Amino acid sequence: MCGIFAYIGNKNDAANIAFEGLKILEYRGYDSWGIAVKKGKNLAVDKHVGKIGGASVNLPKSNLAIGHTRWATHGGVTVANSHPHLDCRKEIAVVHNGIVENFEQLKEELIKKGHKFVSETDTEVIPHLIEENLKGSSGFATSVRKSFNKLKGLNAIVIAYAPSSEIIAVKNGSPLVVGLGKDEFYLASDISSFIEKTKKVIFLKDYEMVILGKDIELISVPSGKQLEVVPETVTWKFELSSMGKFPHFMIKEIYEQPLVIRNIAENYEDEINALSKLIKKARGTYFIGAGTAFHAGLTGTYLFSKIAETHVNTAVASEFNYLEHFLNKESLVIALSQSGETIDVIEPLNRAKVRGSKIVAITNVLGSSIYRMADFKILLNAGPEKAVASTKAYIAKLSVLLMLVFAMVEKTADAKKLLLLAADEIDRILEKKNSAQIKQVAKFLSIASNIYVIGRGVSYPSALEAALKIKEVSYVPTEGLAGGELKHGTIALISKGTPVIVFAPNDDSFESIISNAIEIKSRGGIIIGIADKNQPVFDYFLQVKDIKEASYIAQIVAIQLLAYYMAVDLNLDPDKPRNLAKSVTVK
Ligand code: AGP
Ligand code: GLU
Repeated sequence: MCGIFAYIGNKNDAANIAFEGLKILEYRGYDSWGIAVKKGKNLAVDKHVGKIGGASVNLPKSNLAIGHTRWATHGGVTVANSHPHLDCRKEIAVVHNGIVENFEQLKEELIKKGHKFVSETDTEVIPHLIEENLKGSSGFATSVRKSFNKLKGLNAIVIAYAPSSEIIAVKNGSPLVVGLGKDEFYLASDISSFIEKTKKVIFLKDYEMVILGKDIELISVPSGKQLEVVPETVTWKFELSSMGKFPHFMIKEIYEQPLVIRNIAENYEDEINALSKLIKKARGTYFIGAGTAFHAGLTGTYLFSKIAETHVNTAVASEFNYLEHFLNKESLVIALSQSGETIDVIEPLNRAKVRGSKIVAITNVLGSSIYRMADFKILLNAGPEKAVASTKAYIAKLSVLLMLVFAMVEKTADAKKLLLLAADEIDRILEKKNSAQIKQVAKFLSIASNIYVIGRGVSYPSALEAALKIKEVSYVPTEGLAGGELKHGTIALISKGTPVIVFAPNDDSFESIISNAIEIKSRGGIIIGIADKNQPVFDYFLQVKDIKEASYIAQIVAIQLLAYYMAVDLNLDPDKPRNLAKSVTVK
């Protein structure tokens, strides 16, 4: 997971440039952080535990820096374990994203050769391995190549070497992108960290190594041969990576949602029609995704059944390897992923490719691994999503799915109208007087010991997503379930004062879900109803107006706000929940 940022160029405040870049990448990991710069023939390193946001950096002037914000996998959160890691002579500094799966064996071999380790991380074997390879006749680049070839697992590494005036990076799995400025280069896990400096980029492919100095050199790791450097230019519709007037990214991103929906309603017809044709042609379509993206996929299954009368499966991506044996050349696997880098999604896609299936990517990140591996791609264009809790990317996926099912029955014009109504309804929900009401409910819920959320039909995935959103930012244990499932077990947990959020949109689930609410109420539960009209069974009522098949899009926004205000009420940082990271690039 982690964020990597490196700079080399004509400016001599590389440490600060890296520091600012890392702040933008902090959403990827925020246990600890560190930067190394080259000062003359030496390296200077500054490492800290905690978030980078409020910190400062203390390093000498330099034109070369590599930095890292960590999401620990191996070794506790300590200064010693934070990156960059050094070799015995403190000449080689490495920042790393991923897991060196064979680190124990490598460490043992290196210790036998006399290397001294100072951290508990898997990463530290890398500088020592390079040091070992440099002892032979190999130069810097060859030593990095040889060392990388010894690492097992999915890894991205960036290296600074004191005697050299170059930075070298190499990857397999985790993302790295080079930004080409005027007489300078940036290198990062994600383009948003340098998008304001340059839009000319190279997405490093797996087993490619880049050498950045006065110039750029691209090398194939297996063959050692030089590759052609062909930069591309990225265009972002929403370039704002800063929070603007908002106190947190999460709330900023919630407020951007109407814009995201309108963009999809107005610009996506052609590509969505093309995708609907692929689905019609395929013999078996499967959505896969993790967390929130899985909930979007599950919504798709319900919509396809109801509106397009077509069966589409959805699976949790990390479970797909137990469910994929029927995939063949005629199957279509549609990956849903905000980041486009989730390893749990990439792995099943690789296997689906081996079986000859066609891959579709619905993702928010241009050039991401999933984007690049797909045969057909739809870019969500929701703009950079920084808060760990996904909001606008979820809404974007739901919007694309609505367009898609309507395209299946050749009614895209209807979908567009519905989406525009959904955008207007979200604007209304976000108005001060309505959000103030949600704030009140958040106050009540933030002191609850556990919360339940129920929905039926297309609101069942909404219930799952609502529970996920609430628990990840407020840490209040919350369970989402299908209304009908309640009496098969979970109702045992309802007692006097247990809060239950009930999605009761004006659709075919209305009567049954209201019956479930009454069952809960008669056991002492407190009902928070999300519906078009207030109902006698509701103790609290949050209105989401009826917008027919698109109601499920607006209703989740009420809960996103609720979750956000709960976190704020509890004095928690909604943008960086504990133990989580935005881009889950490790298994
Ligand atoms: C969302 O709020 C979560 N933090 C998480 O479930 C996320 O949706 C999941 O990790 C998938 O990420 P992706 O969309 O980038 O693949
Ligand atoms: N495995 C390394 C560690 O635990 C890197 C983790 C990361 O990607 O941040 O330090």
